[in-house]
Amino acid sequence: MRFPVKKFFSYYKPYFTLYLSVLACDFFVSVVSLAFPLLVRYITKDVLEGDLSTALSEVYWIGGLMLVLVVIQNIGNYYVDYKGHEIGARMESDMRSELFAHMQKLSSSFYDKEKTGQLMSRITNDLLLLSELYHHGPEDYVKYLTRFIGAFVILFFINAPLTIAVSCFLPFLGVFLLYFNKKLNKTLRSNKERIGDINAQVEDSLSGIRVVKSFANEQLEIEKFNRENDRFLESRKKTYKAEAYFFNGVEAFIQLITITVIIFGSASIVNHTFELPDLITFLLYINFMIEPIRRLTHMSTQFQEGITGFQRFMEIMNLKPAIKNKPNAITLSEVHGEIEFKQVSFRYDDHLGNVLDNLSFRVQPGEYVALVGPSGAGKTTLCSLIPRFYDVTDGEVLLDGINVRDIDLMSLRKNIGIVQQDIYLFAGTVMENIRYGNPAASEEEIIDAAKRAHPMILL
Ligand SMILES: Nc1ncnc2c1ncn2[C@@H]1O[C@H](COP(=O)(O)OP(=O)(O)OP(=O)(O)O)[C@@H](O)[C@H]1O
Ligand SMILES: [Mg+2]
Repeated sequence: MRFPVKKFFSYYKPYFTLYLSVLACDFFVSVVSLAFPLLVRYITKDVLEGDLSTALSEVYWIGGLMLVLVVIQNIGNYYVDYKGHEIGARMESDMRSELFAHMQKLSSSFYDKEKTGQLMSRITNDLLLLSELYHHGPEDYVKYLTRFIGAFVILFFINAPLTIAVSCFLPFLGVFLLYFNKKLNKTLRSNKERIGDINAQVEDSLSGIRVVKSFANEQLEIEKFNRENDRFLESRKKTYKAEAYFFNGVEAFIQLITITVIIFGSASIVNHTFELPDLITFLLYINFMIEPIRRLTHMSTQFQEGITGFQRFMEIMNLKPAIKNKPNAITLSEVHGEIEFKQVSFRYDDHLGNVLDNLSFRVQPGEYVALVGPSGAGKTTLCSLIPRFYDVTDGEVLLDGINVRDIDLMSLRKNIGIVQQDIYLFAGTVMENIRYGNPAASEEEIIDAAKRAHPMILL
């Protein structure tokens, strides 16, 4: 699937101006943060050198300025954190509503193949990861690029050779991080799969707990569970190993860079080509250059997870409902209830055999018909074809002489009463469940309707 770039960015549209203000604020805060080491340098180099008689008042002034900058920085960070997250959450909420509304339109054949648990994870987990990318992605790029480029330029002007020496470490650090990040991601993915297996095992065992007990098979279930539990433990051990390499490797690089700066800087001070305040400035700015590289791994994971989340979102959004209204679908006004099957054949999927084969019959209005047959004969299937839960493979189903494919779906289904074989009660009271077909119905109307009960299809 080609990545739908335009669609991806379209979710920013309702919040575009607000998000731009967040990014601008993010940029501003990053620039402000770059000022601190420069102020330290000014104090150590210009204020504390030579005549110290006016030094103290100047230090107080700069201290005051620093305090103001801290306040500005904090207000800015507050705005970026709060509004940035809010925008992400709003985009996520928009997408979740869109996805849920789309899922409501998809046909029964879709739900035959998909597992509810996986669909739930698309609505919750995938979109959560995506919203992280939506708001943190651009924010992080603006913040870390500004800090990195700013620190590099400032250090370059203070001491070009030392800046280049420090920079030489960065590509190696980058490669190291990406390599171990890949390894770490692999183990994290495996962890997710293993915990999924554990959940499946728990669900399976506990849903069938009565069967387990009636066969006195508790020990068997414990053994099955422990097998999955051990696999999860093995997978986690691999993660911690990769993590230990990863974090200690990064720390080693940082220490190496710091040592390089101290040794080269001190040697240059001895040779009178460098000054102590500049060395301090260097040490303060190093973090600005390392931090973005260190965050690279997090950003790349965030990017991968977000993009995968979006692709999984689009996979569902791109599905067209198998059963939909024709352009000029008929809205039923008065239904008599004559049902006719004309040479109907049906199979659930192309690779499955026919459930119904060339079936023809007619049910007159007011007539009661009982379908009798062994389990799996196709009684439920036959009934599902009338309200178009599935479309016939061959032939046609007619209601009052009109092909059900030509009738507006809503109007067709509103005119058919169905009692499910495996009933489903929604969360809420019994009365709310009875009212499900018409939420506005009063109690009297419900009792009245029960007295005039329509002939129903018993699935
Ligand atoms: N969603 C589905 N996907 C694929 N095959 C299905 C599906 N639903 C039912 N079948 C198959 O279609 C055949 C008919 O099933 P159906 O549920 O219509 O039988 P039934 O007569 O209602 O049985 P019961 O008396 O057990 O309710 C069976 O072989 C069943 O396995
Ligand atoms: Mg049935």
